[in-house]
Amino acid sequence: MKKRVLSGIQPTGNIHIGNYIGAIRQWVDSQDKYDNIFCIVDLHAITVPIEPKQLKHTIRQLATLLFAAGITPEKSALFVQSHVSEHAEMAWIITCMTPWGWLHRMTQFKEKSSNAENFSVGLFAYPALMAADILLYDSDLVPVGEDQKQHLELTRDIAQRINALYGKDILKIPQAVIPEVGSRIMGLDDPTKKMSKSEDTANHAIHLLDTPDVIRRKIKRATTDSFREIRFNEERHGVNNLLTIYEAFTKMSRPDIESHFAGKGYGDLKKELTEVVIEGLRPLQTRYHELASDKKHVDLLLAEGADKVRATANRTLRRVHKTIGLG
Ligand code: AMP
Ligand code: TRP
Repeated sequence: MKKRVLSGIQPTGNIHIGNYIGAIRQWVDSQDKYDNIFCIVDLHAITVPIEPKQLKHTIRQLATLLFAAGITPEKSALFVQSHVSEHAEMAWIITCMTPWGWLHRMTQFKEKSSNAENFSVGLFAYPALMAADILLYDSDLVPVGEDQKQHLELTRDIAQRINALYGKDILKIPQAVIPEVGSRIMGLDDPTKKMSKSEDTANHAIHLLDTPDVIRRKIKRATTDSFREIRFNEERHGVNNLLTIYEAFTKMSRPDIESHFAGKGYGDLKKELTEVVIEGLRPLQTRYHELASDKKHVDLLLAEGADKVRATANRTLRRVHKTIGLG
């Protein structure tokens, strides 16, 4: 039996090459190894104010990008969280089984609520919904970034607490998988900061649907330094980042890359990197535009994805209902 991997992706912001290299491409590559479930978490997106048209558009765009990047419906289930109503129902039950203090400790909530004037109860309960996503499918592994580690620990604590309360192993305890170091792409404008979906300065990130001209402009303006040598060196953030992107797209070894650029200047590095990124994204972009030209097709694939997982979610929920005495 293959291990089940569950990934949740927020339909917010603009997907960039950091997301692609650090997450999406690895999901695509691991499809044969695991039983993968990819959930576009729109119910999480509404924990903060979001414009309806924008939300609807971002969900479709993200789904189309993921299919275009190589997530195949035959191998993986990709669906929208709100299409499987078991998520919301399980989240309520979990909310009732989670001590208030546990949620109150979450650092992401503290950060997000301190920046918002009038935050919702949903923002506070967010990790309980995430726990529901994971626990509904008896997930073995959950790949998450560093920032989500605390939510995963909480999910494990909640599952253990519910199992202990009812004296039964009704919920499977999942494990976090934190991607290995090196999968951190930095902002082009400020290479000391991680490339981020929420940063919207013009030259910060290369987005997956950027045209060749836009990619050319962004790389041209990328921050470097006043040295000359083109080498991997963590202390020289700008050049190191450009080389890391080059490495990720060409899959060449570091020594080969360094000898390839020996004696060349930053101008050459930027020019070659531009071509590598444009060509690297081209197949994905072509496929994206093909898929996007037939909106019904992506909707159909998403409906099939939801149909594929619904029975499992429902079975877990029934098990929980029965154990706790609902209905
Ligand atoms: P986020 O953009 O924070 O919602 O993250 C979505 C996925 O992309 C997560 O698996 C992250 O670990 C990954 N990711 C986000 N930003 C980067 C980055 N700059 N470099 C590498 N991976 C990233
Ligand atoms: N909270 C996660 C994030 O912001 C998204 C998410 C929701 C998730 N449900 C999940 C991630 C379940 C993994 C598993 O990135």
